[in-house]
Amino acid sequence: MHEPRLMQRRALAARRAGQRIVFVPTMGYLHEGHVSLLRRGRALGELLVLSIFVNPMQFGVNEDLSRYPRDLEGDLHKAATSGCDLAFVPEPVALYPAEFQTQVEFTQVAQGLCGAQRPGHFVGVATVVLKLCNLVQPDFMLLGEKDYQQLQMVRRMVRDLNLPIEVVGCPLVRDSNGVALSSRNAYLS
Ligand code: PAF
Repeated sequence: MHEPRLMQRRALAARRAGQRIVFVPTMGYLHEGHVSLLRRGRALGELLVLSIFVNPMQFGVNEDLSRYPRDLEGDLHKAATSGCDLAFVPEPVALYPAEFQTQVEFTQVAQGLCGAQRPGHFVGVATVVLKLCNLVQPDFMLLGEKDYQQLQMVRRMVRDLNLPIEVVGCPLVRDSNGVALSSRNAYLS
């Protein structure tokens, strides 16, 4: 599904029908870490939604937005075989139309660590996660502990903005050589 309004309509109908919505937000190029989130999520509710969106707002000017690894067909196959009911794949212009001008900022949790190295990154993450939650209307949202500061920031946002969502942090998954799985591992030799 590509259209944000249709996604929201589908989610609101599911909630009216008493279904619990479970949400796994991703930027795609799915690996076993994502699959573990989907498998865990499958048990938590009736409608399991995956989003695939390479969010331009969380990339700095000299970062890897244009070459970020993508494989939509492979992702949709992995999603289907992991029990996912619906993949939401919005276009950038649908989430960020020309007149877009709202963003989510933090006073503390997004400072330091990754936030210090990547100015604006967590503003972009928080803004898109909030937008996606408004469209997907989840009861549960699953995020990996690999991006630990991101997980804490999302938990903070959910508490601070009174979102009716339970955030479920899930353990990272490692490759046989001990490296944490990440879509950006595609860059490694
Ligand atoms: O962790 C990610 O893949 C992204 O930061 C997220 C949470 C999907 C927001 O774009």
